[in-house]
Amino acid sequence: MTTLLEIKSSLFTDGQSSRLADRYVERWREANPDGTVIVRDFARDPIPHLTAEAFAGFAAEAAARTPEQAAAVAFSDTLVDELARADVVALGLPMYNFGIPSSLKAYFDHVARSGITFRYTAEGPEGLLTGKQVRIFAARGGLYSGTPRDTQTAYVRNFLGFLGMQDVAFVYAEGLAMGDEPRDQALTAANAALDELAV
Ligand SMILES: Cc1cc2nc3c(=O)[nH]c(=O)nc-3n(C[C@H](O)[C@H](O)[C@H](O)COP(=O)(O)O)c2cc1C
Repeated sequence: MTTLLEIKSSLFTDGQSSRLADRYVERWREANPDGTVIVRDFARDPIPHLTAEAFAGFAAEAAARTPEQAAAVAFSDTLVDELARADVVALGLPMYNFGIPSSLKAYFDHVARSGITFRYTAEGPEGLLTGKQVRIFAARGGLYSGTPRDTQTAYVRNFLGFLGMQDVAFVYAEGLAMGDEPRDQALTAANAALDELAV
């Protein structure tokens, strides 16, 4: 049975990136009626920043962990398990202050686990989360795609690639703060691109 993990990283429960990701999930459900959907919504369940103590807990033997470290590792394990189970990842990606949401960075810090999601070899780092499709729905107030000011695309691709996810496609909804008409046009185009991606 196939599994989709939807990650919504908007601050808002009805963010534009979340709506695009939701639409993709709807399309995916139509095509995979027996599939399983896991939803991780940061607006509803915030992701804490990684702390030095939690990070030390990742490397410690289970028996040596403090209760706080054990809780932090259990939380990280839950996020990693969701990601490992997924055949498809649908990520809602807003642009906030010229970068990815800080909650998504915190999520990345919790799923980058040495020996579990990646490992270092003599040939360099090897990602262990392979064979997944990642579909990313990027919502932005301004226009960045294809320019050096797009700090998100290369960074997110690089991070996912480090964990072994190479099949990554982006759909952009840009200019959402540039007036009603540009916004509507951008959303219509993004919905069409998303529908195309889902077939
Ligand atoms: C805190 C905050 C910071 C933002 N910073 C930017 C920015 O740097 N560049 C931009 O183009 N849009 C910016 N925007 C607009 C968002 O990218 C836009 O509203 C988009 O829809 C956000 O996705 P969401 O609706 O899924 O949250 C910002 C919005 C917020 C709330």
